Amino acid sequence: MYKHLNSSLAVLLAGFALLTQHLVQSKLVFAHYLVGTVDPSTDHAKQDIDQAISVGFDAFALNVGAPDADWAKSTLQQLFDYARGKEFKLFFSFDFYANGDLSAHEKLYQAFKDQDAYLKYGAANLPVVSSYSGGAIGADAWRSFKNANNVYLLPNPEAAENYYSQPASFFQAWGDVVDGVFSWETAWPDAADAPTNVSSARDKDVKAAADAAGKTYMMGLSSLQYKHCCGDSWYRTGETNLPERMTQILAVQPEFTEVITWNDAGESHYIGPCWAEGLTEEILQYGNSDTNPHAGWQPLVSSFITAFKGGAKDAGAMVPPAGGAFAGAMWYRPVTKSCGGDVPRGSGAARDAVNYAVVLPAGSAGMQVRVSSGGRELATLPAQAGLNYGSVAGMVTGAQKLELLGSGGNVVASASSAVDVSDAPTNGFCNYNYYVVGLK
Ligand SMILES: *[C@@H]1O[C@H](CO)[C@@H](O)[C@H](O)[C@H]1NC(C)=O
Repeated sequence: MYKHLNSSLAVLLAGFALLTQHLVQSKLVFAHYLVGTVDPSTDHAKQDIDQAISVGFDAFALNVGAPDADWAKSTLQQLFDYARGKEFKLFFSFDFYANGDLSAHEKLYQAFKDQDAYLKYGAANLPVVSSYSGGAIGADAWRSFKNANNVYLLPNPEAAENYYSQPASFFQAWGDVVDGVFSWETAWPDAADAPTNVSSARDKDVKAAADAAGKTYMMGLSSLQYKHCCGDSWYRTGETNLPERMTQILAVQPEFTEVITWNDAGESHYIGPCWAEGLTEEILQYGNSDTNPHAGWQPLVSSFITAFKGGAKDAGAMVPPAGGAFAGAMWYRPVTKSCGGDVPRGSGAARDAVNYAVVLPAGSAGMQVRVSSGGRELATLPAQAGLNYGSVAGMVTGAQKLELLGSGGNVVASASSAVDVSDAPTNGFCNYNYYVVGLK
């Protein structure tokens, strides 16, 4: 058939194929997925993938911390089986914090790399491998892994020498090892004793050095970090971290964004379901997606994904998903700061505030958001086309509410708390995991 094509048309088509490949491959958004026990007699793997597709994700980064465990292999097989033939991919993110043995991760990778749904990327269309931590194993270990397996390597080597302080020197040492790099810790401010905002300063530096070295860059997008298990408890704010980080990612324009996370109940930054069969009672006391779902954040993430993949540099260009009239959510901590006793490290950064983000279509005019707490109005604020967000101080115990008002002051949509804010501990501790309520 080919010889019947007029040659200039063939050249044009080939050029177009390259161009579209470049465009399609230029921006991807992943969700970090903690591989835990998923009961194979349920449809949980299907629900995870169906929901992630509807939010607009390209793939799950499969965080494996127990590469030898049978339950991990079972969960992986369920995910790969269901993803087969779909416009949704999977790839490994070796968790070196949980298991530092690269050869154990490598063995698991080799067992799954040929699955139909394994994500491939780049000019050579290589299987993608990422990681959580892994800088400490050093460039040589990663280099032998890459040479032996011919992967597109996108690890999280931020613990390696010079990564943040002299990123150009980092890329000199690691340039023949990585195809791109992923910064994890920049997704939140550190645990602090006073309110603090997330910063993209280090992302900008690493991105500039990555560009100069011809490498790609991946930024993390997350809501908060609150952990109250496993012998520790800390809080990394929080409040407007999620929408603030969206604006930063759109401005920095990395090649990839990874939402941290899809289902990490233990650190409270999940946006999807967290299956109880894989979680401990200790975690389910606060990180429980049945009693404390975070799916209300999904429409905001969808809106971000569309803007990011479309090349928007400004959150003012975000639009509600599916041509909707609005998208948004309200979120609040279950306790005020007067909840005493067992509070996390970093609790000083928390504010008694009701947080919201609302996305409105282009051309919106005269809209407002009204935020109420304990039955009293805290503030009414203007809302424009694109992403609006805020952290409205003055949250008190009782019910919390967000309303979207039209230009005539009419209530267009609202989000009302299902669980009241309290000032006392539950189960002996003050729970800092947000309740999230979608705007309807
Ligand atoms: C910084 O965080 C506070 C809440 O802690 C929020 O009100 C403010 O909007 C944030 N600043 C930016 C630029 O997002």
